[in-house]
Amino acid sequence: MDFINIALAKGRLGDETYKLLKTIGFGESIVPDSRKLIFKDEEKKISFIYVKPSDVVTYVQNGVADLGVAGKDVILESDNDVYEILDLGFGRCKFAVAGIKKKEIYKKDEVLRVATKYPRIAKKYFDERGQKIKLIKLNGSVELAPLVGLSDVIVDLVETGNTLKANGLEVLEEMFNISAKLICNRVSYRFKYDRISKLIESIKKLEGKYCEDN
Ligand code: PRP
Repeated sequence: MDFINIALAKGRLGDETYKLLKTIGFGESIVPDSRKLIFKDEEKKISFIYVKPSDVVTYVQNGVADLGVAGKDVILESDNDVYEILDLGFGRCKFAVAGIKKKEIYKKDEVLRVATKYPRIAKKYFDERGQKIKLIKLNGSVELAPLVGLSDVIVDLVETGNTLKANGLEVLEEMFNISAKLICNRVSYRFKYDRISKLIESIKKLEGKYCEDN
């Protein structure tokens, strides 16, 4: 029997996924909080790799992992082509345009400066609305940008809203909701169909907790 390889995101999303895997009888081979990156269950023929959240899609797209759990944010931001199988219902938060209170977003014939970790998402969003923007790509602490005059607004994830509040910023426009998705390599889905579909069915059986079809 072939191994099924699953890419998990280090951090909060990976912790939630680990709980889910334990519930369906996988994941015993994983040692949480260890620095190891590969865990193999020889008996169940399943292995797990821990990668940076933004790299999960890359490992799945390249077939190194058959399956992965990634936030919809990183799926949208990546230009990789993977099959989104299930919405797992956790990791819920929203994308928003945020900035200094009451800041105007739409300025006809003016360029809006947008700081973000998600340039693809931000560009698509403002292109669709006909607003010209200058993208400022940052890797973190995006909320700082409008405070120090680097940008007019930010496009970022908002979960509790605490980071915005602590910095005197507010949501100026809600964009869309996101959550964790089970994704699959398109070739693996065909060639390992039996094992992958069994795993999907086990997740779906969890009384609706983890099982919204896309
Ligand atoms: C994320 C996001 C916001 C914050 C939102 O950043 O980019 O900054 O969390 O969460 P909240 O609404 O609950 O405050 P992350 O924690 O990943 O850190 P970063 O700024 O270094 O990217």
